[in-house]
Amino acid sequence: MSKVLPSSMRDVDYDNAKFRHRSLFKVITRASHGSIKRDCLQCSTGKLLIILMIVGLAFLILSRTSPVPSYHNSRVNKGTSNEEDKSHTGGAQGFRRFWRRPPRLPPRLTPDEKVRNDSLINNLEESEMLKWRARQQKVKDAFLHAWSGYKNYAMGYDELMPLSRRGTDSLGGLGATVVDALDTAMIMDIDEIVLEAGTWIENNLQERIANKGQVNLFETTIRVLGGLLSAYHLSGAEHGMVTAKFRGPKPDVYRKIAKDLADRLLVAFTSSPTPIPFSDVVLRDHSAHPAPDGLSSTAEVATLQLEFNYLSDISNDTKYRMEAMKVLEHLKTLSKVDGLVPIYISPYSGEFSGENIRLGSRGDSYYEYLIKVWLQHGRGQNTDLNYLHKMYEEAMKGVRQRLVRKSKPKGLVFVGELPYGIDGTFSPKMDHLVCFLPGTLALGATKGSTKNEALKENLLSFEDLENLKLAEDLMKTCFEMYAVTSTGLAPEIAYFHVDEFAEDGLDGGNKSSEYVNDIIIKQADRHNLLRPETVESLFVLYRITEDKKYRDWGWQILMAFEKYTRVDSGGYSSLDDVTMLPPHRRDKMETFFLGETLKYLYLLFGESTNIPLDKFIFSTEAHPFPVNGALKMHDTLQTM
Ligand SMILES: *[C@@H]1O[C@H](CO)[C@@H](O)[C@H](O)[C@H]1NC(C)=O
Ligand SMILES: *[C@@H]1O[C@H](CO)[C@@H](O)[C@H](O)[C@H]1NC(C)=O
Ligand SMILES: *[C@@H]1O[C@H](CO)[C@@H](O)[C@H](O)[C@H]1NC(C)=O
Repeated sequence: MSKVLPSSMRDVDYDNAKFRHRSLFKVITRASHGSIKRDCLQCSTGKLLIILMIVGLAFLILSRTSPVPSYHNSRVNKGTSNEEDKSHTGGAQGFRRFWRRPPRLPPRLTPDEKVRNDSLINNLEESEMLKWRARQQKVKDAFLHAWSGYKNYAMGYDELMPLSRRGTDSLGGLGATVVDALDTAMIMDIDEIVLEAGTWIENNLQERIANKGQVNLFETTIRVLGGLLSAYHLSGAEHGMVTAKFRGPKPDVYRKIAKDLADRLLVAFTSSPTPIPFSDVVLRDHSAHPAPDGLSSTAEVATLQLEFNYLSDISNDTKYRMEAMKVLEHLKTLSKVDGLVPIYISPYSGEFSGENIRLGSRGDSYYEYLIKVWLQHGRGQNTDLNYLHKMYEEAMKGVRQRLVRKSKPKGLVFVGELPYGIDGTFSPKMDHLVCFLPGTLALGATKGSTKNEALKENLLSFEDLENLKLAEDLMKTCFEMYAVTSTGLAPEIAYFHVDEFAEDGLDGGNKSSEYVNDIIIKQADRHNLLRPETVESLFVLYRITEDKKYRDWGWQILMAFEKYTRVDSGGYSSLDDVTMLPPHRRDKMETFFLGETLKYLYLLFGESTNIPLDKFIFSTEAHPFPVNGALKMHDTLQTM
């Protein structure tokens, strides 16, 4: 356990005293006081009095001429181990006051006090920093534990089954966890894991790609292709480094494999009669086919562009970008109401299919990539992409007008669904997946700078301000979806109590939560898959608003993961029911727990200069790509 936050200022100072870097001046004054005190221990009371008088006179003279800044502040030092400090300076100052008999003056800030106040603030800042550094270390420990389970029992499989201690290939057999986790290990600077994962990739992945059968275009793009591409960047490739930053394969190995994989995935685009790609690819024989019902998900076809664009940037081959961007250009031409789109689309007709509108599964990252692809290339500089920003703004306006409601009785702001289309009845259902939205809204509003900077420079439009407000309201709701359950972990899906919809006996189990009557959790929706969306948004909102509560919420969530999902023999497990104590575990560690959840928590607790939001775009799978293609290495990773 890392230290619990001390609540009073005094405790903070105490905690801090052992670790703070002190100014040279302070060290000297402290040391000299220390030695006086030691001498005094041996003297008689008479001698002590004489010394005190001398010291008092010296203080008097000094303070009459030029005030010497004294860093000792009895209030600050109270409770520290520096007992001698306090008694001695306290005595001297008392003496000085006695001699001077100063007239009562209104309190005013002397340079002395200014310094004291500054050092008090520094104390607090430093102790905060140490606290969050320790918490960041806890995330790193969690990652090490997750990886060790995977490595020991499932190396080379897509995912770990931590309870049965074996691997499972549920994503096509490309070792998805290895690739998804690699850049997290780079960001956390864990050389050992970078070496293990990188070596596995170098020795196995190419051959797997050449021999494997069916994979899903979207899942493979975001997890495997995305993981390879960010690993390529983070390992220093674009800096033209002769020696890579990490042990393991040369960066170009990642790029070559990424290119081979993408060449095979491209067939999903090229074999479709429309710009909308088929959902599945047979890697082995370069063929593609639609899902059984013939349809592709809107989110899936619109969540490939960051990856394919970046591959074009680093391979000097525009074909990846061209195929992927055709999808968005086509989606632009389809008619929508208020920018909102149905969750299915046909690769045969190129038209949307059905009426179901939601920002949860199959809809979510369509909206996310509209703004992120615009941010990746251009931010207004590349005017060819401005249609994306327009589509995004219109959609968010649509979300605010048609999907956002408040729950009863406590008024949590949530995003519901329109399963029967724009004119159909509203469903107060919100997937945990929707919790990506606060982060995306905040990023879209400030474009990666902090809220304060953006306000100062007058960069926020009315729409931006509305979106930022919604981001903060939704963030709270997403957090309360965790706090309302017995385990402190969110269910996969929550319903919200509104006039038209209420159901008794389906609360989350935390009776002390204020929102226990606002949030309804149906029996079938009570599982938790270690999903990242809420901590992802906490990370973005903390970076942008600089509001510390988001870090505290992230910490609370991490502690709940530790308590209920950690498996002693290695790894973390999904849960069947977050409202039950103890919760039954589901025997699966999803790749995104390593690729996203732990990465975002690590970044949330760390310095804002590590993967800054104005220089990187995080893919929907949390793989960071540099804005505008290339970025110097020293901006990329900073060590703590
Ligand atoms: C000193 O700092 C405290 C807390 O940071 C603040 O409340 C107080 O107003 C400051 N005092 C002065 C005189 O600036
Ligand atoms: C990029 O491709 C173009 C045309 O295919 C070629 O002329 C150019 O030399 C290439 N540049 C690099 C850096 O490979
Ligand atoms: C239950 O709710 C209370 C009040 O919001 C909160 O302090 C507590 O942490 C919650 N319990 C869990 C397990 O999250």
